[in-house]
Amino acid sequence: MKKFFEWRNEWSLGIEIIDRQHRQLVVMFNKIAELYLNNGGQTDSEQRSNQLHDQLNIFYEKVREHFNDEEDLMLKANYPSHTEHAHDHLMLCAELKHYIRHIEEELDHIDIGILNSLKVWFISHIISSDKEFADFLQVHSQDEVTSSHSVDS
Ligand SMILES: [Fe+2]
Repeated sequence: MKKFFEWRNEWSLGIEIIDRQHRQLVVMFNKIAELYLNNGGQTDSEQRSNQLHDQLNIFYEKVREHFNDEEDLMLKANYPSHTEHAHDHLMLCAELKHYIRHIEEELDHIDIGILNSLKVWFISHIISSDKEFADFLQVHSQDEVTSSHSVDS
């Protein structure tokens, strides 16, 4: 079956940890889409709604972790738009909550529009705000910021 959300290489930002998380989130997104759109192969509707509920919660938590990691990188890099970006993250989380609620309330009549909106929500986060940060890092030293080793002296 074709995936609802195909990752495109052009979305890679060249920041390994961030790219990896974005791809993981897309995998989770597809799991949600599969459960929502065609039951994920289940026939039991209660099982489906429980699984969907779990997946949506996991997705939400992963998005929050991802945003925290991004904000940490921004702080380390002295990114001038850090505060603005952190504010965007708060708004994005609120929007995500709204989509999750919508999906959970509309389990009986599937609305593909909500999944499309969520997809747009996700992509616009990457190609606008994250891309700006990635461009900033390209000019400034990326290695120091994204290396997993701490450089405490
Ligand atoms: Fe991101």
